[in-house]
Amino acid sequence: MSSDLVGIVARRFKDFTEPYLNEPGDDFAYRLKVDHTNRVCDIATDIASASAVSPRVLLAARIAALLHDVGRFPQYKRYRTFRDAASANHAALSVRHALRAGMLADVPADLRRLVLSAVILHNVRILPSTLPADTLAVARIVRDSDKLDIYRVMIAHFAQEDPEHPEVALDVKRHPTAYTQAVLASLLKGETGDYRHIVWVNDFKLMVVGWLYDLNYRRSCQMLHDLGYMDTIFATLPADPQIIALRAQITDHLAHRLANG
Ligand SMILES: [Fe+2]
Repeated sequence: MSSDLVGIVARRFKDFTEPYLNEPGDDFAYRLKVDHTNRVCDIATDIASASAVSPRVLLAARIAALLHDVGRFPQYKRYRTFRDAASANHAALSVRHALRAGMLADVPADLRRLVLSAVILHNVRILPSTLPADTLAVARIVRDSDKLDIYRVMIAHFAQEDPEHPEVALDVKRHPTAYTQAVLASLLKGETGDYRHIVWVNDFKLMVVGWLYDLNYRRSCQMLHDLGYMDTIFATLPADPQIIALRAQITDHLAHRLANG
């Protein structure tokens, strides 16, 4: 029953996205989000399976992963951007369009609530501390999975393996060595960076490095480690004393998380 439900929602997601993929000239942007969604769903399944969560949490996390970026499609179609600040909160759009398209028909009401909470919470900077345990678990799995795939997308973009597309890196200025002190300072304090401080492409890379502090599951840290994402990102940052100090701090933090869960 449960994998049937995931299959049903996956088919509805495919039906919803298909017309967008046929939009002439914009298929790259939409294809990016379809592929991202499918990988986030696989990563969520991996994290949940490795983390001894209940079958209900596992099921909700897989469905929420499928729906978390549904709003990206109408967002890009209407505003021609993935920047929420310049358009609309895409998580709220995901909830609205998933419901409007009936993607959660057949999903029991209590499960639907868990899924929709995780979708709306997937892009908030900090999760509220008062959430019920299952809601928190599902939201954390989706957030970790989303970040882990964005690492992959960003690294491919920085390495120019993906075609240039301004919407991938959110219109940051390209420069080989420039970065913003406020972004680095947050990371050295053990905090995640703030989007509002981002000016340069290196700021964006630093912010992505800081997501490590926000990963919730040991399995997520293990995947980050095994895929070598931090080494790959640091190899593209300037090797000045401040960045070298940050790299040592990040390496320690990751080793600590792997040792202690
Ligand atoms: Fe998203």
